[in-house]
Amino acid sequence: MLSDRDLLALRAEFPALARRRRGKPPIYLNSTCMSLRPQPVVDALVRYYAEFPTCGGGRTEGARRLDNWFMEELREHEEAAREAMRALLKAERVDEVVWTRNTTEAINLVARGFPFEPGDRIVLSEREHNSNLVPWLEVARRLRERAGDPALPVLDVFDLAPDGAFDLRKALAAIGPRTRLVALGHASNLDGTTIPDADLRAVADAVHRVGGVLLLDAAQSVPHRAVDVRALGADFLACSVHKMCGPTGVGVLWGRYELLERLAPHVVGGDTIRDTWHDRVEYKRPPGRFEAGLQDYAGIAATAAAVDYVARRVGFDTIEAHERRLNTLLSERLRPLQGEHFWLRGPADPALRGGVLTMTSPLGGILNTIQATADREWNVMLRKGMFCVNAYLHRRFDADGTAKNNLRASMYFYNTEEEVETLAKVVERVVRDPLGAMDDE
Ligand SMILES: Cc1ncc(COP(=O)(O)O)c(C=O)c1O
Repeated sequence: MLSDRDLLALRAEFPALARRRRGKPPIYLNSTCMSLRPQPVVDALVRYYAEFPTCGGGRTEGARRLDNWFMEELREHEEAAREAMRALLKAERVDEVVWTRNTTEAINLVARGFPFEPGDRIVLSEREHNSNLVPWLEVARRLRERAGDPALPVLDVFDLAPDGAFDLRKALAAIGPRTRLVALGHASNLDGTTIPDADLRAVADAVHRVGGVLLLDAAQSVPHRAVDVRALGADFLACSVHKMCGPTGVGVLWGRYELLERLAPHVVGGDTIRDTWHDRVEYKRPPGRFEAGLQDYAGIAATAAAVDYVARRVGFDTIEAHERRLNTLLSERLRPLQGEHFWLRGPADPALRGGVLTMTSPLGGILNTIQATADREWNVMLRKGMFCVNAYLHRRFDADGTAKNNLRASMYFYNTEEEVETLAKVVERVVRDPLGAMDDE
């Protein structure tokens, strides 16, 4: 548990929290989208540009020494970052870690490169982020084209429980003899629910029994909890470093090595190859064959600092406990306000919702007023919209008219009880007297 003193010390390491607008600090409640960055990560980014601002490309596979001094230093930093990621995910091999730009690109690498055949089926939950839905819709389109059958079934989408929690029975029922891949969001960016470890393990065992694989969209789990890819039985995992205190535009695809070897490279060119001739190409082994062209070396080098900060400086037990405490506080404060004009998405128990709290209302104006008032009076940063889970929101909530009405507060270890209380007071004022609050606007 974070003491007030520890929390203050952590917050002092985030330069963005020292900013002031109209004399007040920011209240940042948008970490689901992108986290704030601590000084050690900013320093690591600057160190690349100041000290060894060179390319890491052009290296021969397996070469121990590189061409020059700066490249050698960059290599050390890049290897340290890859090892930090391996250790974070408890992966077996460091060459199972592929750098990407983000979770989206990592999932696309699998969707484009996996050897699907017409007749193969892909299982998804009904609440996948667009980044874990659209790539599979594209696979379905390509397989239908190849089969010449526009009605070929490819995707099997299973329901969650009525409150949005994972439903193991439904997930297992969706897996059949032709299932080649199950792709699941490990934790939801809409309501924070996380698939319990035992359920995930059961899904992994079931899909392995039919010869398929399990891909985890871990964009919202890796930043917030300890994830052990082997214990969970995952085959692929995708996550984004910018959601865990790291630089923007760095993500990771982890895959079991023998599966990465079977993935066809998708974006190809410089640095993905061992050698070329005018009639053929020899690709590097993974991960090199997937990392095309020059990379975001500053971001990759600074990823080690981000992993170190989140996993060691703060620690996942602390993160989980702190998020639970804040979410419980906010949920308890908002509970008496819930009724026909205002309620929360997801399970009633805040302990099941991580650091995410999403409000909804059939009257969109209430949410707009909460957001505008919180921003104007207290610099509170929230997010409104469909959070890239359009398909789920349409399926579930078009009927009650709330699909597009979502206002999210997402908390991380650097948020305080006072910040949450400030938001609660604004929500209370607006929901109790929406017309009065709109007049003030
Ligand atoms: C569950 C989930 N999956 C995928 C993504 C996509 O992440 P990125 O934009 O970093 O690719 C997000 C982003 O919010 C997410 O919450």
